[in-house]
Amino acid sequence: MTVSSVQLQLLNANDVLANLRALRTRQPVKFSAFYSSQLGGVVTDPALMVLPFDDHMVHRGHGIFDTAGIVNGRIYDLEAHLDRFLGSAERSKLKLFGSREQMRDIIIRTTAASGLRDGAIRYWLSSGPGSLELSPAAGAEPGFFVMIFGGLSYPARWYTEGLRVMTTTYPIKPPLYAITKATNYLPNVLMQMEAKEAGLDNGVFIDEAGFVGESSNMNVAFVTQDGVLRHPRFERVLPGCTSLRLLDLARSLVGRGVSGVEVCDIPVADARAAREMLLLGSSVKVAPIVEWDGKPIGDGKPGPIAKALLDLMEEDMRSGDRLIEVPY
Ligand SMILES: Cc1ncc(COP(=O)(O)O)c(C=O)c1O
Repeated sequence: MTVSSVQLQLLNANDVLANLRALRTRQPVKFSAFYSSQLGGVVTDPALMVLPFDDHMVHRGHGIFDTAGIVNGRIYDLEAHLDRFLGSAERSKLKLFGSREQMRDIIIRTTAASGLRDGAIRYWLSSGPGSLELSPAAGAEPGFFVMIFGGLSYPARWYTEGLRVMTTTYPIKPPLYAITKATNYLPNVLMQMEAKEAGLDNGVFIDEAGFVGESSNMNVAFVTQDGVLRHPRFERVLPGCTSLRLLDLARSLVGRGVSGVEVCDIPVADARAAREMLLLGSSVKVAPIVEWDGKPIGDGKPGPIAKALLDLMEEDMRSGDRLIEVPY
């Protein structure tokens, strides 16, 4: 379309709805249900899953989010995700929408309304609409949004063959922003795009001191040559709920291929000499990284500890003590 052919129509509400529906036809999405405190309820038509443009989360990135999984009709590890959500809210100076219990209840009931039994729940808190200023508008009402969708999916070869990653050229976030799950993912987005443009699967941040950070929306961990499961300290990386849970569950592998579990600074050179490198996160769970910056990790094949940790995670998601029944 040339610039001169753009028609600026004055739209009425029906036109807007029709155009929003047309947008979803051109680019279909599989979102099952959306709760919005601003709409005052749940919608299932993706055309209606909208926010006012002046919401501070939209035009200044002043919002936070988190994601939990739905497995066999149950929500996995929601309390850990809510703990992190509240921490992110506090550090972002965001007012909560109601209490933790009320937000948890909305999350569970929106999941029930979606009917989805396997997928993901992503929820956001924003400082609300009311101006285009840098600080939130006076009297802005916090916005709370919950999206129920199929979740992110990754190629099967990530698990069977392993991933290939590169050290990103983008700088790592400073600690405050790294540990806060805010809607400011520019470094993460650019890192993943850069890796894809290079024909690779993802990137890895390294900090100024030469210690390993994390990947785009996942943590990384290592198994040393003598079998220690090693994870970076949670200072320059998001405290991943998957990582924290696995560091605990992995104790059951000590003596069965794992000789210890450590959370410490990991110099890049030590990391490159690891036997296994792992990608950890709610969506990916546990996937082996077999190549980093063109060089193999270990023997360049998925290793046994990645598989053992994936099994532990899947077992915990199926039948552990961190599941909430959804009242469909
Ligand atoms: C930057 C970043 N690091 C790590 C993770 C992994 O966290 P989790 O295991 O809670 O999914 C995520 C995903 O939320 C992330 O966005």
